[in-house]
Amino acid sequence: MPKAELHLHLEGSVQAATLIELDPSLDPDQIAAHTAYTDFAGFLKAYVWVNRLLRSPEHYALAARRLFESLQAQGVVYAEVTLSAGVVLWKGQDLEAVYNALYRETLRAPFPVHWILDAVRQFGPEAAVPVVEFAAAHRGRGVIGFGIGGDEVRGPARDFAGIFDRARKAGLRLTCHAGETDGPESVAAALDIGAERIGHGIAAATDPALSRRLRELDVPLEVCLSSNLRTGVVPSLDAHPLRRLFDSGVAIVLNTDDPALFDCSLESEYALAASRFGFAESELRHLAENSLRYAFAPRGALSSS
Ligand code: ADE
Ligand code: ZN
Repeated sequence: MPKAELHLHLEGSVQAATLIELDPSLDPDQIAAHTAYTDFAGFLKAYVWVNRLLRSPEHYALAARRLFESLQAQGVVYAEVTLSAGVVLWKGQDLEAVYNALYRETLRAPFPVHWILDAVRQFGPEAAVPVVEFAAAHRGRGVIGFGIGGDEVRGPARDFAGIFDRARKAGLRLTCHAGETDGPESVAAALDIGAERIGHGIAAATDPALSRRLRELDVPLEVCLSSNLRTGVVPSLDAHPLRRLFDSGVAIVLNTDDPALFDCSLESEYALAASRFGFAESELRHLAENSLRYAFAPRGALSSS
């Protein structure tokens, strides 16, 4: 089944072995201690810790190379990878140099790859301005979209309305983490500012009117099962609303989010859908087809030939 990854953070994909390549003074126990967490706030700290280890454009390039190899081995045919550009700027790094290094890897990738540049919600809209301007300037040079991630409770979507307008006018496609740690009103707010895909969005399962709105707009949820379990936003997989959302006709795409931090792969997420949510072969095929259908890139750009 050819499938795509649409919600995957480069920084959350860096495996321990690669972190040791980046900083040979690290050992696996230290890495395990820094990347252990029990809730969403702890997860964000672990994510920032990994981000801090990416200290040069070459480090980002190595992370991308390793990620592309891993995706190819899983039969992924296309990926829209998120770069936490807001974090690159927050660290005081040269975003142009980092992105140039990533773009060189992109041109050599074994399948087509586009980038979604992400601003950090809790840093506020001012900090998102240089991210959206950079993304706009690099559209057509590998950048396809703009998004916001991080803490949706501390950075409400409505604060980013102007930023999303700017991105849309520049021809960037729009995605927004929402309804992960916050309620359905956060997903509604993401739709209000023009999100075309929702990162997670599982809170929509508690609001039938919102589910209807998602169906009518044909906006898919980028569902990440292991992520939701590991960050504690669902208490167990049994409590995860994937099946209810799918059966209600909301478009679903399965993704890994941060595969190194959640010990998962795209294959393992599809396997979970089958084993824990009873997805039949035809339903898994439907999910895989959705991953291509809801890609921001046009169909013709999804194969490398
Ligand atoms: N950045 C990386 N992973 C994230 C997640 N699951 N939610 C919000 N921001 C993120
Ligand atoms: Zn995410």
